[in-house]
Amino acid sequence: MLRLGVNIDHVATVRQARMTVEPDPIWAAAEAELGGADGITFHLREDRRHIQDRDAVLLAETVNAKLNMEMALAAPIAKIALELKPDQVCLVPEKRQEVTTEGGLDVLKHRKAAVQIIKKMHTAGIEVSMFIDPVIDQVKVSAEIGADSVELHTGKYANARTQRQTSGALRALEKGLITGLELDLDVHAGHGITYHNVGPLASMPGFSEFNIGHSIIARAVFVGLRDAVREMKELLDKFCPI
Ligand code: PXP
Repeated sequence: MLRLGVNIDHVATVRQARMTVEPDPIWAAAEAELGGADGITFHLREDRRHIQDRDAVLLAETVNAKLNMEMALAAPIAKIALELKPDQVCLVPEKRQEVTTEGGLDVLKHRKAAVQIIKKMHTAGIEVSMFIDPVIDQVKVSAEIGADSVELHTGKYANARTQRQTSGALRALEKGLITGLELDLDVHAGHGITYHNVGPLASMPGFSEFNIGHSIIARAVFVGLRDAVREMKELLDKFCPI
């Protein structure tokens, strides 16, 4: 079964546009669970541009599904994660200027910091996923340093405009997936996945979790979040071979 993690940051982005109390990402998490989400994903960014500390605390208290906290390799955020104890943290790169997480974490470059965070999280019983580009060496080093899973960045696939670009991006994801499975990692995928492009990804046997935000929240504006999640979950069930 392919788990669906719903990223609710985008709900907080709308709220922060007016610095008000609505829409509340905590409500979004509840609605997503009612729609069949297997997990709730949020990113507590260092600049707090969308999810706030209060959100993180309430999500940790109220979410029943798998709670996945995306975080940078930053000691103050790691401290918060250790207090909140989500089921999983996903280590991501973070740049202040970016609109969203643009590339995967360079685990080769940040190996030392990643090892320290993985050790701390494991001591607290928190699983660790690495958000990486689908590059064999990044998968290998993630396994070497003890990560439980990798989340392969699907942005290149999502942004592909030609058949050739699409096939190339899918091939890279497939190689990353196979390498991860051979190294006993759980392999997830995320970024830019939509109702239209999810088919070929979900059809690849081996992925265990997709984390999807923007497309689901965008559809929710028109059909409601519960139905938007249900529709995506139906697509995963339809395309996923096992
Ligand atoms: N996975 C990670 C690690 C991300 O940073 C994001 C974006 O916040 C997502 C998944 C979801 O991406 P999207 O909003 O494009 O579906």
